[in-house]
Amino acid sequence: MSVRRRDFLAGASALAIAGFLPIRFSFAQPAGEELPRLPVLHAGERGAFRLDAVMGETAFAGGAPTPTLGFSQPYLGPIVRLNTGTTVQAEVHNGTNRDISVHWHGLLVSGDVDGSPHNLIRPGEVWQPELDITQGPATLWYHTHVHGHTAEDVYTGLAGVLIVDDGRDDDRGLPTTEGVDDIVLVLQDKRVGPEGSARYERTLADALHGFLGNTILVNGVTGPVASVPAGIVRLRLVNASNARNDDLAFDDGRPIHLAATDQGYLPAPVEIGRLRLTPGERAELLVDFASAGDGLLVSLPHDEGHGAGMMMHDMGGPQQEDPFTTAFEVVSFRVSDGLPVAVTELPSKLAEELPEAGEPAASRRITLNDMGMMTGGMGGMNMGGMGGMNMNDADGPLLDGQPVAFGINGNVFDMSRIDLEVGLGTTERWTIGGEMMGHPFHIHGARFRVVREHDGPVRPENSGWKDTVFADGEVELLVEFAHRASADFPFMYHCHVLEHEDLGMMGQLTVG
Ligand code: C2O
Ligand code: CU
Ligand code: CU
Repeated sequence: MSVRRRDFLAGASALAIAGFLPIRFSFAQPAGEELPRLPVLHAGERGAFRLDAVMGETAFAGGAPTPTLGFSQPYLGPIVRLNTGTTVQAEVHNGTNRDISVHWHGLLVSGDVDGSPHNLIRPGEVWQPELDITQGPATLWYHTHVHGHTAEDVYTGLAGVLIVDDGRDDDRGLPTTEGVDDIVLVLQDKRVGPEGSARYERTLADALHGFLGNTILVNGVTGPVASVPAGIVRLRLVNASNARNDDLAFDDGRPIHLAATDQGYLPAPVEIGRLRLTPGERAELLVDFASAGDGLLVSLPHDEGHGAGMMMHDMGGPQQEDPFTTAFEVVSFRVSDGLPVAVTELPSKLAEELPEAGEPAASRRITLNDMGMMTGGMGGMNMGGMGGMNMNDADGPLLDGQPVAFGINGNVFDMSRIDLEVGLGTTERWTIGGEMMGHPFHIHGARFRVVREHDGPVRPENSGWKDTVFADGEVELLVEFAHRASADFPFMYHCHVLEHEDLGMMGQLTVG
């Protein structure tokens, strides 16, 4: 056991006293390799960028090569940087053997270029959407979104990061040197088998609570080490896991500052001790390595309160440890005197306060149906023609002989049904809640603010503009619909546990 590990365990028991669950490590980390920097495409300079979806192979956690998918590389894709106020010509080539789409998650564009399941790109085809970048700076991401196999294909690697930049971050006093003091961290968990293979093999239990891995990858590797300057460093975190909620903190409990949520900056950095980041969410943190020195970012064990362990055991899933109560080392940071220090003080102002919200044009209740399958049937849900689900019915999961499906407001997703019609330029009040579990809920082409969480205060993670929120109990949102979506290219709203999405917990809305 290394010194570093002992330090972590000491820190961990301090956290356990503070009320967390006991820490259990279930696997050994290889000695840290340098954090891979993802390649960067600057669309701003030419107003254009190109992505090539390709098939490749990747060896995870020192194991045997596993077939993977990626954009312009074997696994994951480049960071695409877009400038506010530009029109960008994107070009996506599908060099794989399956249908893909490329959804720009968090990019506020109209439905026809959103990359939803309606923007299918068949093998060998090219898709050329024109993207109007009207929003302010934010860390977004892109991923394939073909109904019925989003989970497998995102897990296998068809995901990347988008950064919108307005050129004013230096004025704000934020770190801006890509890969030095402005570092992208894509978190994706993998289930690495004994021979090192990390294929996507979904069990019934995975279908029910989402596919959880046994190791966390950061930019494709386990337990990397990032060299950082002795100053303030910006970490752009993206949770690209299918189902894992991360509860991130430094092992020594140092304060971290939250600078941005999904849709951009908070008015000023907010000090937090830990960051909950659920699938689809992003956050930007500022960490002062001058005062605190080397550090280890960990994902803490946590209780989601949705009985994942119970479900796994009751549903005949693998008798493994409850994967939510396992702690993971995520990335360690080593301060390097050789790296230039650009920012030494926390910025005091990043953005305007959120404006007063107008009266909502409509109030809707969105119930995420996760109970139908728990009662051994569909619980009265409208299957809307399973054909509409466009899934491999042959190998779809069964529970007591019934297909497992999820829904929203009693309807299983159907590509040919429009569920909601929203007025362009309106704000709506949406109250979101699951029946049994918490779900990360996402809306395409819109941004929202969280105005209520169960009955407690809104947590810092939800205090800014968002496009994805963990509905644990009930959350109330004010959603701004400022971008058009027709019935041919509607916006999706769905649970971002990708297994739930693929099995029907998704709906479609038009804005016009
Ligand atoms: Cu990140 Cu509809 O997805
Ligand atoms: Cu999206
Ligand atoms: Cu869900």
